[in-house]
Amino acid sequence: MSAVTSAPWSRLRLRQSAHLRDLCAETTFTVAHLIQPVFVVEGLGAAEPITGLDGNSRLGLDDALATIARDLDAGVRHFLLFAVPSPSGAASAFGVFTASVVAAIKARFAERLCLWVDVCLCSSTPDGHCAIADGRGRIDLPSTLAALADVAVRAAEAGADGVSPSDMMDGRTAWLRQALDDRGHGMVPIMSYSTKFASQFYGPFREAAASAPRHGDRKHYQIDVRSRTDAIASSVRCAVEGADLLMVKPGLTALDLIGPIRDATQRLVGAYQVSGEYASLCALGRAGLTNFDAALLETWHVFRRAGAAYIITYGARRALALGVSA
Ligand code: PBG
Repeated sequence: MSAVTSAPWSRLRLRQSAHLRDLCAETTFTVAHLIQPVFVVEGLGAAEPITGLDGNSRLGLDDALATIARDLDAGVRHFLLFAVPSPSGAASAFGVFTASVVAAIKARFAERLCLWVDVCLCSSTPDGHCAIADGRGRIDLPSTLAALADVAVRAAEAGADGVSPSDMMDGRTAWLRQALDDRGHGMVPIMSYSTKFASQFYGPFREAAASAPRHGDRKHYQIDVRSRTDAIASSVRCAVEGADLLMVKPGLTALDLIGPIRDATQRLVGAYQVSGEYASLCALGRAGLTNFDAALLETWHVFRRAGAAYIITYGARRALALGVSA
């Protein structure tokens, strides 16, 4: 007789009380595993709530500092900065603005937080794409890589604790590593968006970062969802190029790849619970169709069960209140 049929009640026995369920739980995490995105918009006055992304706003610098102070009190210590430059500025001003925000945040909070800086050009290019276009509208890779490296180096010089390239240009992790090393920032880690899909789940973000492509889509540089081999190879390549931390994005739709990428690279792999995923939970909650907080906690446990080392989530600042340990 198999073990299953000989012990028909054993599963129910172990689920009958919270203590027993907790004893049998295999996934745990603390607020230390969560990263809170922050959008800082150049010259913005009053904070602008981001459509669909409850509890998250586009912030001017002063509001951002006040928000981060509150988040620190709520146990958050990792932040992912999206610096959104004023649309009228020159493309080269993007790195300068990013660095000024990093410097202001680090001047105020120093080692109380770990500040990761998203490195991508889509908030600063005229067409909203993640690359600089050549005269014929195609990707100018050398100029793009140079511009990305400029932003990363300026961020590091201003005190960033890590940089996080999200552009999906070929070779950018190696470029950033080399540029950082050459400028004396060999200890600044790179958290690469290493397996990032072309996805319908980035909508609220693109409003927040003013980065929606003005023409076409991002399918010529982000990964096709049908492409498992390419998805794993992309992370392998980032690891070979020197990425310290890898990532799948969107998180829930790439759960199946976290374990295989970790096994193929021997690197930690995180999950980005992207804006559309988070907003869908908000929408269900607002419609009275789910308990938002419980659903959020459920998704975090699922990321951890799938092997995610860290989770980038718009709800990190709620974690302590939801009962996640500090
Ligand atoms: C920039 C970038 C995007 C996200 C993070 N960095 C948008 C995109 O690729 O279009 C999405 C994050 C989210 O939706 O929460 N390239």
